[in-house]
Amino acid sequence: MSPVSIHSKLPNVGTTIFTVMSALAAEHKAINLGQGFPDYAMDESLLELVEHAMRNGHNQYAHMNGYGPLRKALADKVQYLYGSRPDPETEITITPGASYALFTALATILQPGDEVIVFEPAYDCYIPQIELMGAKAVTVNLVFPNYRIDWKEVRAKITGRTRAIIVNTPHNPTGSVLTKDDMLELEAAVAGSNIIVVADEVYEHLIFDGLQHESVLKYPPLRERAFAVYSFGKVYDCTGWKLGYCIAPPALMAEFRKIHQFNAFTCDTPKQVALADFINNRGVFLGLGSRLQKKRDYFQQLMTGTRFRPLASHGSYFQIYSYDAISDEPEYDFAIRLTKEAGVATIPVSSFYRTPVDNRVLRFCFSKRDETLAAAVERLKGI
Ligand SMILES: Cc1ncc(COP(=O)(O)O)c(C=O)c1O
Repeated sequence: MSPVSIHSKLPNVGTTIFTVMSALAAEHKAINLGQGFPDYAMDESLLELVEHAMRNGHNQYAHMNGYGPLRKALADKVQYLYGSRPDPETEITITPGASYALFTALATILQPGDEVIVFEPAYDCYIPQIELMGAKAVTVNLVFPNYRIDWKEVRAKITGRTRAIIVNTPHNPTGSVLTKDDMLELEAAVAGSNIIVVADEVYEHLIFDGLQHESVLKYPPLRERAFAVYSFGKVYDCTGWKLGYCIAPPALMAEFRKIHQFNAFTCDTPKQVALADFINNRGVFLGLGSRLQKKRDYFQQLMTGTRFRPLASHGSYFQIYSYDAISDEPEYDFAIRLTKEAGVATIPVSSFYRTPVDNRVLRFCFSKRDETLAAAVERLKGI
């Protein structure tokens, strides 16, 4: 018993569902298709570049804004993919992961009482981060079953207190992606306002079916009011590296860096040095979508042997499956039972909502070895 007590800043927050399901998976020796990380090895050449960087003395603090050649390589990549080149000196900062970049962006812009529009289901860090700043999340539900944005509802929820809108494409947990029309709607919704767009684009390269990633960086009216956030861990199969970056116009980035300076200050040097070399080869990111699409298709093909029904996934590591032909249990209960009885861990999509929504759907992560996916589906056939 501690003699002191504190007032919780996040009284409504418990352990995240990912931790809960991963612990349950371990306890029941279940195959973990819950948490979003690959179970296959990352690129060997990137590992070699890290070792090389360490052995060549890149082991001290990197520049506060990130290793210069990495920022330059990212600027070149953005120009190549999205048509305009951010200034590596003033517009790009390397961060210890995307969640940290999101936190810093929200800390940069939010004052107590501000409102932020968040689409649900939502990646779990957005709302707690908003609330830590004393601001309020105003939620808009994506329209089931395709998880599209109802822009009329968005416009109706914008008030004089709206400080930001968070968009996430490709989307976790649903695998939906924003289209050009969505981006034009977003442009129109924020035009003439003081609203900032926070764009979580961590799965930018993991996009399928011949679709293009619609980055805010492609749309000048959005780019000039956006923090765009990325994760090396998510796209290069090294989630444990916790390394990402943020791109924003100079005035916004200057304020972002004031906060970063007194928090992490800088990030892992050898990995930044390695990534600077690695991403100069465009092949390393251009092939990622088709590789992941093969996994999605393989998993979907196997799942036809079960009673689970797929909902569309056009990007990310994730696909949502409906179990409406199997049970009418709530998602959380069904996911727990599936872990314990069938030995397959998933994530109930209801846990990505603050508002209670239960569509009898689960999120499956398919960034796994073919053997893992096949073994999981064998277990699901009995359900
Ligand atoms: C949509 C989304 N944003 C951000 C993150 C966090 O990325 P990082 O591990 O780089 O902090 C994740 C990780 O699962 C994610 O799915």
